[in-house]
Amino acid sequence: MATKSSLAPPSGAAGALRTPDSAWDSRQLSELAQELAQLSVRELTRTSAPVREPRFIRNVEALLKRGFEPRQLADMVKLVAENSLHLSHPRYMAQQVAAPVPAAALVDGVVSALNQSLAVWRMSPAGTMLDRSLAQRFKKLFGLPRTAEGTFVPGGSFANLTGLLAARAGLDPKAWTRGGANIAVLCGEQTHYSIGRAAGIMGLGTASVFPIPIDKARRTDAGAVAGVVKKARKAGYRKFILVGTSGSTPTASFDDLVALGAAARQAGAWFHVDAAHGGGFLFSPRYKRLMRGVARADSIAFDPHKMMFMPLSAGYVLVRDGALLHRTFEQDAPYLFSAVERDYPDVGRFTIACSQRFEALKVWMALGAYGEGFFGELVEGVCAAAHAAYEYCLQSQVLEPVHEPAANIFCFRLRQRPKNAAASSRLHFALEEAVNGSGEGYISSTVIDGERTLRIVVMNPRSTAKHVLANLKLVERLAREEARSRLLSRPLALLSVGSLARSPVRP
Ligand SMILES: Cc1ncc(COP(=O)(O)O)c(C=O)c1O
Repeated sequence: MATKSSLAPPSGAAGALRTPDSAWDSRQLSELAQELAQLSVRELTRTSAPVREPRFIRNVEALLKRGFEPRQLADMVKLVAENSLHLSHPRYMAQQVAAPVPAAALVDGVVSALNQSLAVWRMSPAGTMLDRSLAQRFKKLFGLPRTAEGTFVPGGSFANLTGLLAARAGLDPKAWTRGGANIAVLCGEQTHYSIGRAAGIMGLGTASVFPIPIDKARRTDAGAVAGVVKKARKAGYRKFILVGTSGSTPTASFDDLVALGAAARQAGAWFHVDAAHGGGFLFSPRYKRLMRGVARADSIAFDPHKMMFMPLSAGYVLVRDGALLHRTFEQDAPYLFSAVERDYPDVGRFTIACSQRFEALKVWMALGAYGEGFFGELVEGVCAAAHAAYEYCLQSQVLEPVHEPAANIFCFRLRQRPKNAAASSRLHFALEEAVNGSGEGYISSTVIDGERTLRIVVMNPRSTAKHVLANLKLVERLAREEARSRLLSRPLALLSVGSLARSPVRP
């Protein structure tokens, strides 16, 4: 138990590893490395409760106050780990952050040790070669031509920003120097907030973002694009970026990219696909059909740290016209970038970061070691688990599905809930908090059609139907207890827990 774990008293010289000479002592470092590696393995293979230690706030507050010796470092890390949220626990199913593929997580430590800066070839010669080899592989995966370009970014938000910057360079080449650009961004109502944020960052203004209605399957309605283009024209816009989403954040709905691609062509729009979530589905022979049409995109955001189950962070952006991505960031830096053309480029010329981590190492190694089929199997496994939740809710007396999951995200709610939307939202949020506070499971919630619903996102390849159903049964049990306490005239007993008593629940 985290609270009982005490730090071992420092043995030997208290100052060992604390001086510049001893901090690099290989014998002592090997011992430390072994302890830390054991901790990593323990975390990656965790199955025992809690998913989140119920007393973690008290424990971490105590930990923050204590000093420690270098020899106690592994013990301290262990205490932090024990009080952290355990994403590798099979009953964690809350957000789109993966239980990482073990080999990739372990290689990640070496990424830090090598500390190659990928922006500049001279600073990462072998690293750039692996990075470029992966770029070729990802282009092929998405069906883009060899002349396309791709680079790692810290995540989907940066990938969307970079994709939209490339769009601006394509639609209005002078905008980089002149500033300002009269471009409208058209995107579905379920689009991730990073698209609107990118429009804000780029100075297009969030008012340039025009929402496209979604259809019954919660996909961006391709049939509504022409009407939204008309609206944007009326507002004075003449250039457009159309955004499709492959795997929306609330429900993992996959847009019809063939239809959206055609609508983009019709409107003369740049076609950006946010496949941050869905990109990994291309590894699955069964699910890759959801991505049909992605090869028509002008730019693509893809997060290997989502459905490729890579540790944070590993985001990726691809641009069909590779030369255009090179022109997107028109700057020179003679103190860094090469004075001559080499076989391998300075990646910093076409990505935002100047210090770029060698994320390619873990991804390249995991792909090489396991092969693409392995990642397809992982995708299919988590989707099967989410579907089992849907089937359970169809039969449940307490829970009902909000939608049939197309992939690994599933929203559900109480069959019997307050008629008042605000009260219903409050109750569902309270249930989420109660599940997460119990230490037994971990789920999330979102707002669908103005009402908060519960949500599971299965991102752990070791989560099976058994774990999903255990979480749903926990929700049922808590909901029944809540209903009973209401009958006893102690309404919304769950709402008295923690922060809920103090803060209003949105919406
Ligand atoms: C569809 C979509 N796009 C973009 C993002 C942002 O990705 P990141 O968190 O890696 O910045 C997310 C995150 O969940 C997402 O679901």
